[in-house]
Amino acid sequence: MARTEAVLQNRCSSCHTELTSDPGRLLNPAQWLRLSGDLTVLETRLTRHPRRMPPGEPLNAGELDTLLQAIQERPTPTGGG
Ligand code: HEC
Repeated sequence: MARTEAVLQNRCSSCHTELTSDPGRLLNPAQWLRLSGDLTVLETRLTRHPRRMPPGEPLNAGELDTLLQAIQERPTPTGGG
């Protein structure tokens, strides 16, 4: 998880300040990991949302991969399917 945290710190926490003080607040099933359709809100923002994150310079492939992989590894609320 250390790499994930590094990406979040470097690329996201300047605006999403909770990532510094209390990452669990955003990275939990009620926040960024809640489902929006078939994907989590976080995945949607990283891959197909009209306002992708981060807003400035996009993540490089390695950074994107790190975050997407971390999402895959977490238990996400699937509704029992
Ligand atoms: C330059 C500032 C900035 C940076 C950097 C940034 N964000 Fe955001 N982010 C915002 C703003 C502002 C919003 C809310 C407005 C909107 O919907 O676009 C937002 C919204 C979001 C949302 C939707 C939250 C919700 O509850 O719907 C997610 C998820 C998100 N950001 C993830 C990230 C991730 C992951 C990164 C780093 C890869 C990141 N952001 C980097 C400014 C930023």
